[in-house]
Amino acid sequence: MPSVFIKTYGCQMNERDSEAVAAQLVAKGYTLAPSEAAADVILLNTCGVRDFAERKAIGKMQNIAADVRKNRPDVVLGFLGCMAQSRGQELIDRLPDVDLVLGTQKFHHAADYLDEILAGRRDKIVDVAAEPGSEATIREHLLYGNVARNGDGHRPPLQVTAFVSIMQGCNQYCTFCIVPYTRGEERSRGIADIVAECRQLVSQGVKEITLLGQIVTSYGKRGGSSREAKVDGREPENFLPSTLDSRPSTTKSPFVQLLDAVHEIEGLERIRFTAPHPKGYGDDLIEAYARLPKLVESAHLPVQSGSDRVLKLMHRGYTRERFLGIVKKLRGARSDIGITTDIIVGFPGETEDDFEQTLSLAREVQFDNAYIFKYSPRRDTPAAGMPGQVPLKIREERNHRLLETINEIGRRKYDLFIGRRTQILVEGPSKKNPARMTGRTRCNKIVVFDHAGREHRGQLLDVKITRAGSFTLYGDPAIVNL
Ligand code: SAH
Ligand code: F3S
Repeated sequence: MPSVFIKTYGCQMNERDSEAVAAQLVAKGYTLAPSEAAADVILLNTCGVRDFAERKAIGKMQNIAADVRKNRPDVVLGFLGCMAQSRGQELIDRLPDVDLVLGTQKFHHAADYLDEILAGRRDKIVDVAAEPGSEATIREHLLYGNVARNGDGHRPPLQVTAFVSIMQGCNQYCTFCIVPYTRGEERSRGIADIVAECRQLVSQGVKEITLLGQIVTSYGKRGGSSREAKVDGREPENFLPSTLDSRPSTTKSPFVQLLDAVHEIEGLERIRFTAPHPKGYGDDLIEAYARLPKLVESAHLPVQSGSDRVLKLMHRGYTRERFLGIVKKLRGARSDIGITTDIIVGFPGETEDDFEQTLSLAREVQFDNAYIFKYSPRRDTPAAGMPGQVPLKIREERNHRLLETINEIGRRKYDLFIGRRTQILVEGPSKKNPARMTGRTRCNKIVVFDHAGREHRGQLLDVKITRAGSFTLYGDPAIVNL
């Protein structure tokens, strides 16, 4: 059978989509190639959020195509995901060696399309159409990589954490963002379907689940085509499981109802979710943090800007004050909660004064970490045509200043952990140094440590933090075990 190599650009949703495609192909008999040089099929799962991400994927494909054309003409090349969705046929016109362009609602057709191309029945395939029910098709996992699980059932999986896609799309239409166009309208899977997938993962050794979507706090608000359409020929399920139907749903958003249902899974230790929208932090969700022990004390709260004027231009749907209010309530519910964010610098019309409000918000909130992005105009988004586009030099300068502030705050926050004892979930060997192991705290900080073997993978271990590096903690479980 052919071997496949999938390279992923962009967010965790993209990572998850790639995993599901790889798992579908493995189920059909494909093997996973360790590198593109050894693969019969090379797929790039793309991101369109910033121009840089698009250029990276196109540049990579140009290099691969040049090599393949010269040395291995039978290799099949494909683009998947967000850029494939927004550019479609244009990608093949530009890169004629590409055989397959598969949009964001079509991942589950990858195996069939590759079969047809490999068998020579079809030459080029571009499929970026909408497909009702596609939100429920990202469900396969690759916990054991390419290797079949041992019969004894004792072998720990390669992954003790897993991502579960709960919805697709976004209807917020922030004026800078291409996601509503590449991922489509919000469509949510049913709770029973999601819980069944989580249960299955836990029965295979998964201890921590991250619920994924572009705007998870809007989960279930617009229903979902899985309520109306048949998926894989099956009848649609109830959106809410019967045990939850009797609860007063007026007080709990569908997302919190989902958290409740996942929380009941025995053997699951930790629940995370990403990405929420600040406007979705109603009292029911804050209260869930106080009520549900498996919901870890960690929140990724994308703020984008500290200036009300810019937030309005961005169509974010909250003010600085409301955002600060949410942070305060979250810290009231869990004092040690880790809060990270996304910030855009140089949005059209952003003045020095606006930017300074972002700096002051960062200092006021004391984020544990922040992902900072220079504004990148995306075609067909309203912000791309707004007056006052900020020159690149100023965007870079603001990026630099904000980064310094975030790093300084991060250093202080990480130093506070030195000497503390904290629980980590052991994930596996460190990528940088496989002789060491890594895990994560509940507040989502990476901890690197010695004195533990691979048998500790999947265990919740108490470690004593001995040192703090740049957004990494170093710990010693041996000290605690004495
Ligand atoms: N809700 C999604 C948003 C996807 S985009 C998620 O968090 O996964 C991720 C981040 O990219 C956004 O929060 C924003 O900070 C940044 N971003 C989106 N569009 C951008 C643009 N046009 N220019 C710069 N940064 C952008
Ligand atoms: Fe994009 Fe805003 Fe949705 S950042 S993903 S349009 S919440």
